[in-house]
Amino acid sequence: MPPTKVPRFLQTGVADPVADQAAARAALLAEAPSIAPKFFYDKLGSQLFEAITELPEYYPTRTEAAIFAGHATAMAGAAGSGMALIDLGAGNCAKAASLFPLLEPKRYVAVDISVEFLRESLRRVQREHPQVEIVGLGQDFSAALEIPAEFVADARPVFFYPGSSIGNFTPTEALAFLRRIRTRAEGGGLLIGVDMVKPRDVLETAYDDALGVTAAFNLNALRHLNAVIGSDFEPRQWRHVAFFDEARSRIEMHLEARERLAVTWPGGERRFVAGERIHTENSCKYTLGQFADLLQDAGFSAPRHWSDAAGWFAVFWAAA
Ligand code: AVJ
Repeated sequence: MPPTKVPRFLQTGVADPVADQAAARAALLAEAPSIAPKFFYDKLGSQLFEAITELPEYYPTRTEAAIFAGHATAMAGAAGSGMALIDLGAGNCAKAASLFPLLEPKRYVAVDISVEFLRESLRRVQREHPQVEIVGLGQDFSAALEIPAEFVADARPVFFYPGSSIGNFTPTEALAFLRRIRTRAEGGGLLIGVDMVKPRDVLETAYDDALGVTAAFNLNALRHLNAVIGSDFEPRQWRHVAFFDEARSRIEMHLEARERLAVTWPGGERRFVAGERIHTENSCKYTLGQFADLLQDAGFSAPRHWSDAAGWFAVFWAAA
């Protein structure tokens, strides 16, 4: 029996907590106040997101899973062989690992903001797939995407960005991000999940569910922010708001002040009038044509896609 491989781990671009705190406070003081979506994902927030994916109203996760399950052979054919599979936002690594039998990656590079989060997942993946060389890379890839050359050596770089997280970027930001991926994907390509435009009521209930799980997920950003910057947000004073802005083709999530109130933190304060909102997330929705154009504008070639029967979600492959 070959010796069991041990995953390697590397943390790059170590986060600068002081700069992060300053940016979060500045965003609260802006004329249009905002909280960045990354503040959704503390431990409780990540668990609330997992709960969201189980809700009947939240179709993206299960629709994408069905597309992967139904078309994995065709996707593997498009992606080719001998790849280094680079998973952006790998989390529990389950989506990528489920494709290993067909994609047969030489190497699996799991990228997530914290290497700590990856450690346990990757040990399990390595046990289940002893033939694959596994690397964990701790990196805030939305700020800077740097894949060490040795992680792609002797392999074709295939980037994997499922879950429609690309929707958190505006189309302009998404184009810049896709261009950064393109320059690092030479000879390989990108497999990416994208949420599609669909009737307003379907979109709005997906982001404002009957149980209030998405509301809790949104409000939890206030608790997380309190922990990070020392603010005194009181979640009970805020209301979850989610709506589809058709002109911008995006779901916007906000937190709305239920009453006149003030929020303070060391060295600062912001007052809110009743009804004033803090913008917490954009989730952009595309048509097939728009996203294929975006991939080509970013320098990818020959985009193709697989969808569910209703056309609610799509997985694209594009060559680099
Ligand atoms: C993780 C960014 C894909 O936009 O659908 C779910 C986050 N926000 N419900 C999305 C989210 C509210 C999700 N992404």
